[in-house]
This record gives sequence, C-alpha cells and structure tokens, in this order.
Amino acid sequence: MPYEDTLVRIAALKADHPQNIALQSFDPAYFATLNADGQSRLMKCLNSGIENPDSEMGCYACQPGDYDKFRPFFAKVLARYHKVPEDARHTNDWTLEGVDGLPANGVLDIAELGLPALSMRVRVGRNLADFPLPGSMTRDDRTALERRMMAAFDQLIADPDYGGAYHSLTPGNPNAISEDEYQALVDAHIMFKDMGADSYLTAAGIAADWPHGRGCYVSEDRGFIIWVGEEDHLRIMCMERGTVLNRVFDRLKVALGVVSGIDGLDFAMSDQYGVVTSCPTNLGTGMRASLHIALPKLTADGTDKRAKDIARPLGLSVRGVGGEHTPIGADGTVDISPSARFCITEAEIITALYKGIALLKAEEDRSGA
Ligand code: ARG
Repeated sequence: MPYEDTLVRIAALKADHPQNIALQSFDPAYFATLNADGQSRLMKCLNSGIENPDSEMGCYACQPGDYDKFRPFFAKVLARYHKVPEDARHTNDWTLEGVDGLPANGVLDIAELGLPALSMRVRVGRNLADFPLPGSMTRDDRTALERRMMAAFDQLIADPDYGGAYHSLTPGNPNAISEDEYQALVDAHIMFKDMGADSYLTAAGIAADWPHGRGCYVSEDRGFIIWVGEEDHLRIMCMERGTVLNRVFDRLKVALGVVSGIDGLDFAMSDQYGVVTSCPTNLGTGMRASLHIALPKLTADGTDKRAKDIARPLGLSVRGVGGEHTPIGADGTVDISPSARFCITEAEIITALYKGIALLKAEEDRSGA
C-alpha cells in the first residue's frame, strides 16, 4: 500500500506531539477515501509538520483549492487553531463603523492612550488564483509570477501616489539588486530574510528555488511594500511611525483595491474561508496588524515571558522586532499584534490592536519593575 510507512510514522508522531495540530487532525480513514492524486496532495500539505514534529500548526496548503478540496481535514485544523466550529464561515469586512471598541470619532489614536509615535504596520497575505501556492511552485512558476507582478508594479510606479521601484533577487532579472543592496533592505525591515533558514518553510517546499522569483516593490515614501515570493505569493503592507492606526489601515485598503484592480491579478479566495493563504494560521483575512512598543517593566527579566503571559488572555501575540521567532529588543521593545485572523473582520482586527494596546499599557504602568 502506498504511504504505509508514512502512515505508521504519523501515528507514532501523533502520540508524542499533542501540540501538532495537523498531526492531531489527520484521520487515516479519511485519507483512505482519497484517490492517488488526492493522497499525494494531502501528504504534501502535511510534510512540514511530519519533518518538524515540534510544529504548532504543522501543515500548509499547496494549491489554492486545497482548503475546499480537503475540507474534512482542514475544517478540523481550523477549528483547533482558531477555536471556531468546524462549519465556520468567514466574512471579510473593512468597515470600521459599528465595530465594538471603536472610539466615538472613529479614530484609533494611541496618543489618547498616552503613547508616543510608534512604528505601526498592517500586512495582508494574498495569492494569485492562477498559480499553485508557493509549496507546489516550480522555479518557472516562481519567475512567471514575478514577471506578472512586475507588469503590475509598472502601473503602481507610474502612479504619483505610489512611485518607487521593484527590487529583484532573481539572477538575471533587469531589476536585480546586489547582495549588499539586499542586506540593506533586510536591515531596514523592508525585505524578507533568506527563507532557507526556516525549517518549516523548507520542508513545505515554500523556500525552494531561492532566490528565484523573490523580490519586493517599495513605494517612493517606503510606506507601502509588496513582498513577492515569500510564504504567500504576495505580502502587501503599509507601515509608518505615528499614532493613528487608521492611517496604515486605510492606506492599505485603498492600495489593495488598486492592486486587485490590475489586469491579471485575481486573488485566490474561498467562498467559505475568505482569503486563501499558505498557512492555515493566516486564512480568512491574511491580516496581521502590529506595532512596536517598549515594555521595560514587563520585560525587566530580559525575556518576553511576562509580556506574553499578560498578552495572551488579551488576544495578543508578542514577538521580537526582527520578525517571527526573534528575541525582544535590548530596551524591552516588542512587536504586539492581535492573534486572530479567521472569523474576524479586518476592521475588528485593527480595533483589537487598539483595545489590546490600551490594556497592555495599563498593565505595564501598573507593573513593578
Ligand atoms: N509551520 C510552523 C508551525 O506549524 C509555523 C506556523 C505559523 N507561522 C507562519 N509563519 N505561518 O509551527
């Protein structure tokens, strides 16, 4: 029987790794109902979690249709991770009016909380419907997607609201940048790091063919950025140092409308699940809204443990300012973001960031060092 060894391995890993959501959600009886093509596709989704049994999630979708095609598996995964019912439906909505916790004037201004201008950022993951997701792309797919995006970027660059330039890591690309230029963009928190360092992305096939098809568009004012070829085809983001969260949120909403209006850019969507992303943790909105805040008292022991313990019940994730799995800054600066992405609206996420920061700031102020 094909996959016999893998099924034995999964059963053994499942017993030892209760935190691995993909392994816990895998049902061999359901797997047995799939035809050969379905079995190979589903196994591909699970590979990262098998090779990295310490995973929290442990799987990635590899085709835009995977969430719907393998619903009996993904419904369990999504229910476990996002704490929603298995038949949950997602609705996208950027309208702030009427969202619980929105100040009466509609402005999410952290100056009202006694905070100074901070570095704030909202990003969304998006994938093009016409290409396999990054885990299943060939090198030619990756460079074809980049070429398609470069034609779209020409339109943004010609638009005075955006301008800027596209920078490519693909050898031979007319916009290719040098190793030093790439490092400078990484240091400026504009470009993403070499994905080969991430064992989850590597086992998923998402880091393959590096650096082909990888690059980033940066607007003239550097406040609007699109990554090409990271965990999702596109990571589209707005960032700014300021106090009013609406500024990055509204700008991203407008820019997304412009990008999705460009010919040839159809984003992968699921009727039931909303925005399709490689990782089930991002499904639905694909949105992460964050800001960098110094919490010297809550991090006085040099770790983010206390901040995390206080932030978790508030629905907030804490991480280092250098990205996922990075340590906190020397002055106790951490990156805070609402954890929810699925079965929550975009407007609720940005409001949750404001509400969460208010509570976290109160904890910091009250805390003895
Ligand atoms: N695949 C990893 C895990 O299952 C990371 C998941 C969340 N992070 C992400 N970048 N999608 O633990």
